[in-house]
Amino acid sequence: MAPRFQLALYFAWRFCTKQWFDILYWSKARVLHSLMRLRNPERLTDHQLMSLLSWHAHQTEKATKHRSATASNARPRGFRHFDALTHYLREIESRPHLDASEGEALTWIRSVHAEYDVWRKTPDHINIKTIAPSAVSPEHSTTIAPDALHHLIRRRTSARVWQPRDIDDAILTQLIDAGLQAPSSCNRQGVVITVLKQSFPREQKEGVNNPFMLNNAPSIFYIAADPSLYPERQAPALDAGMAAQNILLLAESHGLSGCAMYHSESFNQKQLRQRLNLTSNLYIYVALLVGYPGEFPIKPRRMSHQMRSRWIRE
Ligand SMILES: Cc1cc2nc3c(=O)[nH]c(=O)nc-3n(C[C@H](O)[C@H](O)[C@H](O)COP(=O)(O)O)c2cc1C
Repeated sequence: MAPRFQLALYFAWRFCTKQWFDILYWSKARVLHSLMRLRNPERLTDHQLMSLLSWHAHQTEKATKHRSATASNARPRGFRHFDALTHYLREIESRPHLDASEGEALTWIRSVHAEYDVWRKTPDHINIKTIAPSAVSPEHSTTIAPDALHHLIRRRTSARVWQPRDIDDAILTQLIDAGLQAPSSCNRQGVVITVLKQSFPREQKEGVNNPFMLNNAPSIFYIAADPSLYPERQAPALDAGMAAQNILLLAESHGLSGCAMYHSESFNQKQLRQRLNLTSNLYIYVALLVGYPGEFPIKPRRMSHQMRSRWIRE
């Protein structure tokens, strides 16, 4: 079935099932923002530009995992993403500072661009490096014991009281990296993490409530994302959550303890953005309060597998 017909069917289904807001949201992000960006790439922030490149590179790379186009196929799979990639790579040329700071990501993006060119001109070429079932890729040659990782996952619990103790910058940097290594919707890498370090002694606040926790946490990881980069309404929040969990687990392995705190509409986004020096396109979804625990929290026991999980075997 032609992709346009499929898309029309998809929208008709969404319309009939009263998902109008989702259609509007998708259209705004996908059509309006895309057109504006393609027309005025110079207006993009560096992060938006890199995010668009990462997204189009991801889609372009995926296209090359299919059988390549033949000469008769003038519009091979993924050609729009490839064209957008070419367009935004041109904008990169006017921002040489990005080559210095984003060298690794840009090398990958450019290699995807070059591979697509080979793929579309080479009949039967598929860009998949297959591995024999018994082979182990170099990245997986040093494995992490699954039971140890599972134990860490089970042990993690939220602390709400911390020792007034500084966390080493090297550890905080590693935690930021753990957050940035999380998966992201269509490789948009739309999440931006801001770490606030608080010094001690601090003014005392009564009662362990959210203001107390925000006041006494030695460090706060604010996790923001740019929703305008995502046509999928829930994806930026999911991306923020993925980054958050990576940070919490690695923090646990360092003997630190964290607590997630919902932000989004619960906080004045404009004020918070100004405080954190974030651009107006970013939305702060969640804050992670991280420090050396000052309590032995009792982990809430989980409901049974029977209650909260399902198996389907096909
Ligand atoms: C999205 C999200 C928002 C949360 N917001 C708060 C909050 O505002 N205040 C708070 O004390 N805990 C907050 N928590 C922590 C939860 O209360 C905690 O994860 C839950 O009780 C389970 O306990 P555990 O983390 O120790 O396993 C939040 C957790 C998540 C995932």
